[in-house]
Amino acid sequence: MPSMIPVKEFAERRRKLMERMAPDSIAIIPAAPERVRNRDVLHPFRQDSDFQYLTGFGEPEAVLALIPGREHGESVLFCKERNPEKELWDGFLVGPEGAIERFGFDDAFPITDIDDILPGMIEGRSRVYYPLGKDQQFDTRVMDWVKLIRSKVKSGAHPPGEFVALEHLLHDLRLYKSASEVKVMAKAASISAEAHCRAMKRARQGGYEYNLEAELIHTFMDHGARSTAYPSIVGGGTNGCILHYIENSAPLNEGELVLIDAGCEYECYASDITRTFPVSGRFSAEQRALYEVVLAAQYQAIEAARPGNHWNQPHEAALRVLTGGLIDLGLLSGSVDDAIADEAYKPFFMHRTGHWLGLDVHDVGDYKVGEAWRQLEPGMALTVEPGLYIAPDNTAVDKKWRGIGIRIEDDVVVTKDGCRVLTDGVPKTIAEIEALMAD
Ligand code: GLY
Ligand code: MN
Ligand code: MN
Repeated sequence: MPSMIPVKEFAERRRKLMERMAPDSIAIIPAAPERVRNRDVLHPFRQDSDFQYLTGFGEPEAVLALIPGREHGESVLFCKERNPEKELWDGFLVGPEGAIERFGFDDAFPITDIDDILPGMIEGRSRVYYPLGKDQQFDTRVMDWVKLIRSKVKSGAHPPGEFVALEHLLHDLRLYKSASEVKVMAKAASISAEAHCRAMKRARQGGYEYNLEAELIHTFMDHGARSTAYPSIVGGGTNGCILHYIENSAPLNEGELVLIDAGCEYECYASDITRTFPVSGRFSAEQRALYEVVLAAQYQAIEAARPGNHWNQPHEAALRVLTGGLIDLGLLSGSVDDAIADEAYKPFFMHRTGHWLGLDVHDVGDYKVGEAWRQLEPGMALTVEPGLYIAPDNTAVDKKWRGIGIRIEDDVVVTKDGCRVLTDGVPKTIAEIEALMAD
């Protein structure tokens, strides 16, 4: 299936990156390595997000070189050669010629020739940008290429003098999503929303946490989203208080809530949704009271995700509502300001209200500029995910609250005058959830 992101957009991203690079520099970006799962079996291949962003090229054993001003082409791909015999076993390979024709690279070579060709491209460039320190094997390869050039200085070769982490330049580009990236993210979000609806309906029959995980995976796969963006969290009852619970093997019990934090990946873009709902389809009084606090906090945080506000404002808005709610319900005492200053809320809300979202579920991009929180701008995508977790062994609070864990998470993209919620295809008010589950 053709990518929802046009080939020319990938070329445009490479051009933008080269504009930000020093003129006499080179950037070298490797594809993700293949990883062994167990004997003769590999993990499903997932392209490296930086490489994916700049190429859209989905094969392993490939390297992108960006060489601003190079006469024979600035954007060069090294990739596997076509090989009918190998392709019979492992599937179609694009090959260097196909890479030029179909992916818009200026030049392409077999990956087997990289040690002969790439050092010549690095030679004479004073600065090398690459993902420094990300993969030890690749660090060694870059140094081997540079050593080769150093060995030829007596013949007049100019080895590079500066090695610069590529991430800072590249990740700032990745932070601003284009219209077509937003379309892909909206697609991932709507598939995940449908999956959450399916799981909510299935929960009425009880069963085990993994039965709900199965419903999620069914919907993801059914829409061509072949992978989750992260391991799904399906936590029934007190398991909802374990932030990274992925065992998903416990029975679902009447009277308890179930927290599902799950999202598919579509064309390498992540979605990330959390919903919390009662196994029985009806919230109890305590569940309802806490849920309304988290929901109000989430609405306030979404309201604060707008241009003119900085990164931390949605978190600050959520924190204020959550802390106020905990005081109103008698789980905390004193004033909201004091409880925030003393971090008295921390046993009940120990994580932040969101993160950048994109090719990585916890996407790249700085949260601060110097000491100041970053201003929110159109095109930035983030999650909004406040929660409250009353530990089952928290003897400081009335027994009736213990073991309730609630989080509500949506994905939003900042727009000119606010934000667009991508994940509104799954209900989150109590009335809507109870109606869907009664259906
Ligand atoms: N599911 C990962 C997160 O919410 O950050
Ligand atoms: Mn999540
Ligand atoms: Mn999240």
